[in-house]
Amino acid sequence: MSFEGMWAELLPVGRDAGTGGYHRFAWTPPELECRAWFAGEARRRAMPVEHDRNGNMIAWWLPEDGTREGAVLTGSHLDSVPGGGAFDGPLGIVSAFAAVDLLRERGATPRRPIGIAAFAEEEGARFGVACLGSRLLAGAIDPARARSLTDADGRTFAEVLHGAGLDPEAIGPDDDLLGRVACYVELHVEQGRALAEPVGVASSIVPHGRWRFGFAGEGNHAGTTALADRRDPMVPFAGMVLAARDAAERNGTVATVGKVRVVPGGVNAIASSVTAWLDARGPADGAVRKTVEEVGAAAREAARPHGVAVELAEESYTEIVDFNLALRDRVVRTLGGAPVLPTGAGHDAGVLSARVPTAMLFVRNPTGVSHAPAEHAETADCLVGVEALAAVLDDLARG
Ligand code: GLV
Ligand code: MN
Ligand code: MN
Ligand code: MN
Repeated sequence: MSFEGMWAELLPVGRDAGTGGYHRFAWTPPELECRAWFAGEARRRAMPVEHDRNGNMIAWWLPEDGTREGAVLTGSHLDSVPGGGAFDGPLGIVSAFAAVDLLRERGATPRRPIGIAAFAEEEGARFGVACLGSRLLAGAIDPARARSLTDADGRTFAEVLHGAGLDPEAIGPDDDLLGRVACYVELHVEQGRALAEPVGVASSIVPHGRWRFGFAGEGNHAGTTALADRRDPMVPFAGMVLAARDAAERNGTVATVGKVRVVPGGVNAIASSVTAWLDARGPADGAVRKTVEEVGAAAREAARPHGVAVELAEESYTEIVDFNLALRDRVVRTLGGAPVLPTGAGHDAGVLSARVPTAMLFVRNPTGVSHAPAEHAETADCLVGVEALAAVLDDLARG
């Protein structure tokens, strides 16, 4: 099946008819449908699918001699943020199947296995920690902590894994699998407006992380409670949002409060508690840390006069990722030259780069929008991306 054919099959899965945004959260029905699609595409190509211990899937094209070592891994993820775009994640997987088709049509005979990976819970939209599947695989998160992560309905990651037929006690670093991987190359839609050509190559991922702010006040009646008697957590929460913007401007970073939980959430009730999540990123570790410290200090200060308690917890942090220079140069050479650019978005490639040489290809995004329905890539650019990925896989799988 062609790139366009595969794309058309995936397009309706998990798409909200009203907004056009995607809701494909790990192990929910739309994401399971994407996983079934993945298995079907692998079957169609006689590529055996390996289900690892951490909820990730890999479809293998094995060389004729059956070698399983020294693999060239590609792929991305099938899950989405709430209301996300069609391309973030699936583009890398659809392009990988299309690239394998191209290589086969051209009679290529790779000496190394080529694997197409679908990593679990890359966005962290269900359990809060981004790149959960690749972090577990690479040993970048404590398995006990991962097991205890909960979704919005209070279901633990362990329960959901168990429901998916996986053993929650078996999750964690998988040196057997990683030991078989020589390198990883992820193709991804570019997520800003930084790429003027159809395809580029990543240099680095900026430091980024997620922090949870808890504001504990006192629920009460919106009409009968005098202002002086209130302990309203919404007030310091509002201060925290403004402080995030100010701190980002001061420190040359970006900071976002995109998710908030208000309990109990009644129009005519003062909230008893507010939980808000801060996403902060920037060119340097220190600037990101300083941003978060300043937001924390501002939140506490805003809370004090209202008798509201503030808790601040780090949910995840990823230091700067500089992709392997030798592999990046080799990829750029294979493409006959390409723009090289950093990104402010996190990726499984960033996690894996701590364990294996890793590179990324970006496909131009004309809207410059991502994590939203307007995220886009022209089909012509996607096809250039498929050609580029095929050339890179072919080169890496030869030697
Ligand atoms: C994931 O795409 C992220 O960068 O948050
Ligand atoms: Mn994303
Ligand atoms: Mn992504
Ligand atoms: Mn991402």
